Amino acid sequence: MSAPIAIRSAMEADAGAIGAIYDEGIATGNATFAQGPHPAHERREWLRARDERAPVFVGLAADRVLAWSALAPFSGREWYTGVAEYTVYVSAAARRRGLGLQMLYHLVSAAPEYGYWKLVGMILRENTPGIALAEKAGFRRVGTYSAHGLLGGEWRDVALMERHLRR
Ligand SMILES: CC(C)(COP(=O)(O)OP(=O)(O)OC[C@H]1O[C@@H](n2cnc3c(N)ncnc32)[C@H](O)[C@@H]1OP(=O)(O)O)[C@@H](O)C(=O)NCCC(=O)NCCS
Repeated sequence: MSAPIAIRSAMEADAGAIGAIYDEGIATGNATFAQGPHPAHERREWLRARDERAPVFVGLAADRVLAWSALAPFSGREWYTGVAEYTVYVSAAARRRGLGLQMLYHLVSAAPEYGYWKLVGMILRENTPGIALAEKAGFRRVGTYSAHGLLGGEWRDVALMERHLRR
């Protein structure tokens, strides 16, 4: 386990680091359906477009951004207003040091402030680190969507993880 990292809201100046870490995640082939690259200007636009219910956080050590995380509404439907989908990315060089767990625990404790009662993770079935991280943070796997999206021309399954925040 690493020393605790500092976690704060992302700022415009973090856009380059967030994009670079995102691209490292994409390079695993199992993190997301998105394709890179994500240069700073594109991530700045992305940050600007986030509203108050879709926060982005960065994790830093010695003032360097080593990880980022985000919450976003799971659905626009009123009755799902308390459900958020989470995202956690850790820089390739800083993985397996407990940073991902710190970022996810932070989301779990911050989410109620944004009006959420439950977090869900939608994680590509082959993403062993992503699923193991969620389980370690108290999420349970509630199912698998089969052939849920196309990545590089290949149909991919998505594991569904959930954690209630109020019970
Ligand atoms: C998933 C990810 C965020 C994990 O971050 P991390 O900082 O390496 O994870 P941690 O060091 O905090 O590990 C916490 C736990 O997760 C599990 N875990 C993490 N990486 C793992 C791996 N490669 N294989 C198996 N289990 C793993 C372990 O249970 C680990 O606990 P342990 O070290 O006591 O065994 C990181 O691999 C990553 O950024 N991947 C690309 C982006 C992505 O896939 N995000 C998930 C979808 S949102």
